[in-house]
Amino acid sequence: MAEQQTVGVGLISVGWMGKVHSRAYANIPVFYPELGIKPRLVIAADTAEDRAEYAVDVLGYEKGTTDYHEVLDHPDVDVVSICAPNFLHAQIAQDAAAAGKAFWLEKPAGRSAEETQAISDAADRAGVVSAVGFNYRNAPAIEYARQLVADGKLGRITNVRGAFFADYSADPRGALSWRFVRDLAGSGVLGDLMGHLIDLTHYVVGPVQEVTAATSTVYSERPELPMGSGTHFAIVENGDMKPVENEDYASMIVRYAQPDSSDSGSPVIGTLEASRVANGPRASYGVEVYGTEGSFRWDFERMNELQLALNTAPHVGYTTVMAGAEFGDFSVFQPGAGTPMGYDDLKTIEAKKFLLAFLGQDSQHADIKDGLSANRVVSAAEKSAESGSWQKVDQVSNTSAQGKGGKLPCKNF
Ligand SMILES: NC(=O)c1ccc[n+]([C@@H]2O[C@H](COP(=O)([O-])OP(=O)(O)OC[C@H]3O[C@@H](n4cnc5c(N)ncnc54)[C@H](O)[C@@H]3O)[C@@H](O)[C@H]2O)c1
Repeated sequence: MAEQQTVGVGLISVGWMGKVHSRAYANIPVFYPELGIKPRLVIAADTAEDRAEYAVDVLGYEKGTTDYHEVLDHPDVDVVSICAPNFLHAQIAQDAAAAGKAFWLEKPAGRSAEETQAISDAADRAGVVSAVGFNYRNAPAIEYARQLVADGKLGRITNVRGAFFADYSADPRGALSWRFVRDLAGSGVLGDLMGHLIDLTHYVVGPVQEVTAATSTVYSERPELPMGSGTHFAIVENGDMKPVENEDYASMIVRYAQPDSSDSGSPVIGTLEASRVANGPRASYGVEVYGTEGSFRWDFERMNELQLALNTAPHVGYTTVMAGAEFGDFSVFQPGAGTPMGYDDLKTIEAKKFLLAFLGQDSQHADIKDGLSANRVVSAAEKSAESGSWQKVDQVSNTSAQGKGGKLPCKNF
């Protein structure tokens, strides 16, 4: 048995994500015993008293509180998970950095690129490790596909297609949670789902440099759901109708960094869409990358599968490959292909990467620079949707998606 190193964990907000983070920490000694990391669940905060109590009674925290400052002030807390609604992220993350605590912040980092910049600056100033909850890049099939792209197995990358389509608000009686209120959430589906897709393509292909976008709000009002109750999947009968203040659907055309070794010099174009009101897809979060010698398709609804076309003669098309031992961390969770991993496992991998980074080991995890990079694309998309024109995206250096040392994931960038 490896020597055990205890890491004190504080949690801020015990909603859906707070519970998922807590399970992820608890899973670390189970799935990664060789690391010798033993998370100790020290204290959890939620303004909803019943949720703070749940953290103690069910999740196993030693203490619950309704004041998040108590989490940051606690001397036994080394790392903090920030799973609060978006409007609290910037303040709490900056407070965490000032308290010298490493933080794992849920996406989108800030409500705007400016807020995320402030968080990033605070983390830099304090020299604390950060992580941002871009879990889909942890899927073993994505790690495998990323490597194929980096090794040039798809040839020169030509174009990218992605659609993150959810139905959590497809029903007009779907709750108006904090996600639909601009002051509380920032953008709508752009920050909520498109940010994930942007990060995924940054991770696999490279940075978006320019964007044009269009957005729409399909339902202009919804029944209100009080903060700290239910989830954003809730259906509210005969509720108080309040206005929806941000977009339900967004589409973008993007240009990725210009390939420097390409014969044609033509840019890599992406078409990316996101919806929270799609009828049909449940959580169909898909990405496709096409190259001159092959392509892949992946969808979270079938996250253990990869559709691959490699060096195929014309008319052969895709082969479905099931994630197995040679795919990322798959074998940590299941002994063989065909027995699927699930959403929580992606968060367990994320917790491992965060804790390794906290302990000083490079883990190529998504951090606040990746959060800033995605946020800048979202901000540019919002400007484009308003003005109707293409918008340049200010580039962020040293993101983990680019492989911190400046090595870009895709060979032809
Ligand atoms: N990575 C992902 O796949 C993913 C999925 C869902 C949510 N998220 C993100 O996670 C965050 C939380 O989302 P959620 O779905 O868990 O929300 P939620 O509404 O389920 O939970 C939010 C919790 O925050 C609490 N809260 C409100 N004000 C607080 C305060 N001042 N101090 C402490 N707690 C407070 C509420 O009482 C509630 O329990 C959001 O930023 C969201 O975008 C990420």
